[in-house]
Amino acid sequence: MMQWKMTGSAGETAQARMSDGLHQLGGSHPSIHRHLSMPLLGFGLMILLTTLFAGGCAEDDDCPICPTNPVNISGILLYPETVTVGDTLQFWATGRGSGMQFQWITTHGRFLETDQNWARWKAPASPVVASVTLVAFNDDGSSTFTKAITVSPYKPRHAPTYTGAAYCGLECHQVDGHGSNYDAWVHSAHANAYGRQGESPETQGKCAACHTVGYGDIDERGWDIHNGGFDEIPVPGLQGVQCEACHGPLANADGEILDEHGELAIGDFLIDTCKGCHTDDTIEWAEDIHSPQVQMLAGEGGYGYEQTIPSSPHQDIVPRGCVTCHYPTSGEEGSSHTFAADPTSCSACHPEASGIDLRMNEVADLLMLLKAELSQASEEDKLYYSYEWALRNATLVEKDGSSGAHNYEYSKTLLNLSLQNFEPSGNMDRN
Ligand code: HEC
Ligand code: HEC
Ligand code: HEC
Ligand code: HEC
Ligand code: HEC
Repeated sequence: MMQWKMTGSAGETAQARMSDGLHQLGGSHPSIHRHLSMPLLGFGLMILLTTLFAGGCAEDDDCPICPTNPVNISGILLYPETVTVGDTLQFWATGRGSGMQFQWITTHGRFLETDQNWARWKAPASPVVASVTLVAFNDDGSSTFTKAITVSPYKPRHAPTYTGAAYCGLECHQVDGHGSNYDAWVHSAHANAYGRQGESPETQGKCAACHTVGYGDIDERGWDIHNGGFDEIPVPGLQGVQCEACHGPLANADGEILDEHGELAIGDFLIDTCKGCHTDDTIEWAEDIHSPQVQMLAGEGGYGYEQTIPSSPHQDIVPRGCVTCHYPTSGEEGSSHTFAADPTSCSACHPEASGIDLRMNEVADLLMLLKAELSQASEEDKLYYSYEWALRNATLVEKDGSSGAHNYEYSKTLLNLSLQNFEPSGNMDRN
């Protein structure tokens, strides 16, 4: 029987991961079994792996059954065994040898993580035959093993899956269909949100969760779900904030629209869907503030100069969350899906709408004033907290974008305090 002699803690981690993997192979998630090409594959592989690695040695010495050198890699196992575009795979190499170092090499795709004879690998975005090579070496020699991996065109393994707005729009939800949500949406900022995000691999990871459809969905075990989100098939059809970003994935694994999608996808749960993206729970520095609407409504995120800042009650009293004010139905059919703030929505609670406009102008004016002060700051001023705090409050109000409609008391007070506490050059009361 062949086996690695694992040495030290890294080896143990690799083994722990492996048994983790085994657990997941035979694990309880029903859909994994459902989508394996051979139903018993998971179980079979589990027995195989258990046999191969049973009795693996933690220490070099006192190992009665393991042969020692020379180094020999006997194989590379992969899970899952079928690979499509965008998949993430795990590899385990089998073999023998001790005191070794390992080097993983690939012709396509990339390694997300490697640890001795274990690796996690992300398949490339287009179909190809990739070669994955492991070189193992120690003082006495080396061994190389190459495995060819056929990366097939994309096929989701988990349902429901994402189809893209074009399908929803062209099949049903356009002017000539039973609603014009598509037409309202397609010209909105949501539809075009991807362009703003930028396309570099770095921005993909950080930004795509809120600027694309289905990016990085994970299941209850924390594993990527292979259900056709933008992380698996980075196609233009899934760029931007599309129907399914709010309504959820609509198709089965073969791309057929789920019969029940109308019931599943429309409902009160949608009211909270906005909050998943329009939020920034790590506000610390002005320059990092991004889409802080949830925080603004809650009266959070600003610098309060160690005081309790008053907050208006919208968050607690609007019956349908953001959608109370951002679901215009008074315009053309389907205009709701621009999600622009609806002026007529205010009158249910504020019959005197002009008073509201006045207060929004007041906040907008205060913001302009503070920004003018900040723009006068000298390089030295910028070294002080008083500058950063005022900048943070100005940025919060500006990025919120509602000129105090979300939270008048909070916006107004933050801006006023900032104006009191920051003055460009010459201010003697610096903090
Ligand atoms: C938590 C979700 C989320 C993440 C992550 C995110 N964005 Fe956004 N982004 C939004 C939302 C929501 C808006 C629209 C709300 C607004 O304009 O305040 C937005 C608006 C924008 C805008 C236009 C408005 C502006 O502030 O300039 C740009 C540009 C942008 N994002 C770029 C990015 C980039 C680049 C990244 C990655 C570094 C990123 N976003 C990450 C949610 C997110
Ligand atoms: C930004 C989130 C969001 C996006 C994007 C979105 N919707 Fe909606 N949709 C909603 C919300 C919220 C409701 C209202 C739910 C309620 O009233 O309980 C809704 C309601 C609906 C309704 C039922 C009411 C009506 O107006 O007919 C349909 C149909 C619908 N959406 C289709 C679509 C289609 C098609 C797209 C893509 C073109 C889309 N939606 C994009 C959030 C969204
Ligand atoms: C998947 C993430 C996501 C969800 C869910 C989402 N948004 Fe957005 N929203 C964005 C992004 C990103 C932008 C910025 C687009 C841009 O300017 O490039 C945006 C922009 C907006 C804008 C600004 C429009 C403009 O013209 O600048 C409004 C208003 C808005 N969203 C309201 C909502 C509402 C209301 C909901 C819930 C029904 C919602 N959003 C759900 C990500 C999201
Ligand atoms: C009490 C009504 C109300 C509620 C609740 C509300 N908004 Fe607003 N929102 C407004 C108004 C009014 C504006 C200002 C619109 C304007 O200036 O045209 C606005 C502005 C915005 C903007 C900037 C729009 C732009 O064109 O740049 C975004 C984004 C936004 N809201 C998202 C949200 C989100 C997300 C929620 C829920 C977390 C929410 N709003 C809750 C009334 C509301
Ligand atoms: C569900 C009821 C409700 C809706 C809808 C609503 N508001 Fe309010 N709003 C309130 C309440 C309650 C207050 C706090 C009491 C007050 O000051 O009138 C408030 C306060 C405000 C304030 C601060 C006024 C002040 O003097 O403190 C502004 C500004 C405001 N709302 C704007 C809007 C706008 C703009 C809309 C529509 C886009 C809107 N609200 C929709 C209930 C609502």
